[in-house]
Amino acid sequence: MAYPYDIYQLNENQEVEGKVGWRCPSNIAIVKYWGKHGQQLPNNASLSFTLSNAHTDTYISYKSHSKNAVSISFLFEGIENPAFASKIEKYLENISAHMPIVKQLHFDIESTNSFPHSSGIASSASSMAAISMCLSNIESDLFSLPQDTKFIEKASYLARLGSGSASRSLIGGVSVWGEHSEIAASSNLHAIKINDTHEVFNTYHDDILIVSAHEKPVSSTAGHALMNNNVYANPRYEQANKRVIELLSILKSGDVHAFGKLAEDEAMTLHALMMCSDPSYVLMEPGTLDMIREIRAYRAASGVPVFFTLDAGPNIHLLYPDDVKSEVEIFINNSLMQYTAKGVIIKDKIGNGPQKLV
Ligand code: DP6
Repeated sequence: MAYPYDIYQLNENQEVEGKVGWRCPSNIAIVKYWGKHGQQLPNNASLSFTLSNAHTDTYISYKSHSKNAVSISFLFEGIENPAFASKIEKYLENISAHMPIVKQLHFDIESTNSFPHSSGIASSASSMAAISMCLSNIESDLFSLPQDTKFIEKASYLARLGSGSASRSLIGGVSVWGEHSEIAASSNLHAIKINDTHEVFNTYHDDILIVSAHEKPVSSTAGHALMNNNVYANPRYEQANKRVIELLSILKSGDVHAFGKLAEDEAMTLHALMMCSDPSYVLMEPGTLDMIREIRAYRAASGVPVFFTLDAGPNIHLLYPDDVKSEVEIFINNSLMQYTAKGVIIKDKIGNGPQKLV
């Protein structure tokens, strides 16, 4: 597919330098992206809430050079990190046809996460989103382009090429990524913002209860690939596309119970797909199942609309509106804390998307 934006490059011997910085949040998918094809194109539409507290801050200082090659230094949490650096180099190489400046400039990149690296929280969404925002910002500074909705769209496109779910982190609140015949302007190439939601969803909490901080046994890319031979793949993609439409109508109505049920059904579907893949993966831990049992029992007894979702790992994302915050806090302390790894909980909320730092 042809690159849908204009391509900009510096004139030979043009000398430029500067610095940009962006804070980009992570996001939690309610309808999951699981299965992809081509150049990071999703097999179904997904819908997520962009978070606020779990974020990556990235600063890029740039200076023109004449090497016509990717050239970076990279510090993660102030320390050189060759593994991350080589991922970024590959990514820049990948997007250089779309953005030739990534070979015309040397980049000194510094990145920090607000959440501990060993917390089991996937950082690819926030980190790829932050790098993409910085790159789009450098391009808009050098070529005097407006920082409008097209600017965000291009950053989402570039983030997608780094990590699919990152495309949704560029957009505040609720976003959808993936072409859907019933959603105007939806695209496989970048995420879009969903505006028409009930105000209760602006108050949503996502408390991430860390069950295990161990590295995942299967990378996302390898996990997505398992869908290619999964006999349930096609019905799954149909189901996900149907659920996105159901969810859009729930988000309008403000029905927090219907919202939570759909979120839990999606989490269970994602894990079921992994369990019946070949090879099969069980990514939940005993503590995950204990928490699921506790959450369901508490909800049945109290009527409090507290539900969970999971990403491709064992940690519980507890979803609830702000008006039940105090009850949920007591419930977490009394019933869920015992199953967490060393009591680690990352308290997050739905947020407004990227923030410019420099
Ligand atoms: C289960 O975006 O991490 O979190 O595109 O290979 O980088 P890549 O995959 P990634 O997959 C995320 C999968 C998920 C569901 C979701 O966020 O939609």
